[in-house]
Amino acid sequence: MSATRPLTADEEKRLVGAAQKARENASAPYSLFRVGAALLAEDGTIFGGCNVESASYGLTVCGERTAVFKAISEGARKFRAVAVVTDTDPPASPCGACRQVLWDQCRDIDVILATPARVVSRMRLTTLLPLAFEFKGPR
Ligand code: THU
Repeated sequence: MSATRPLTADEEKRLVGAAQKARENASAPYSLFRVGAALLAEDGTIFGGCNVESASYGLTVCGERTAVFKAISEGARKFRAVAVVTDTDPPASPCGACRQVLWDQCRDIDVILATPARVVSRMRLTTLLPLAFEFKGPR
């Protein structure tokens, strides 16, 4: 997979700010754990997402997947980076399900993990999800 161009400090700041803003919309009455994500499309558009919990817990959708599904449903197809903001030390990194969905739709983008105070780490998605599953169809 070809590398996307690295984010500028300004782009990263804007993306993390959008994730933080999305986090304010988290609906997490059960876990009280609020997650904000923001996905940067190739054309500069940012799609925010937050976790949305269900009284039937298993129906909960993570912030990262909310952002991906919003972006895809709005027609975006090429992405450069995702930022995830949680108020924990260290900040949370995407769960396994979200890693797969990010790979499915975004391939090897930059992942930025942050708290409301600062960016803590940066890595590529393949660092979090080596040997990702890809469906090639039946033989
Ligand atoms: N959560 C996310 O939003 N993203 C993740 O990658 C892991 C977990 C949410 C789901 C649930 O609302 C809360 O965090 C606690 O698991």
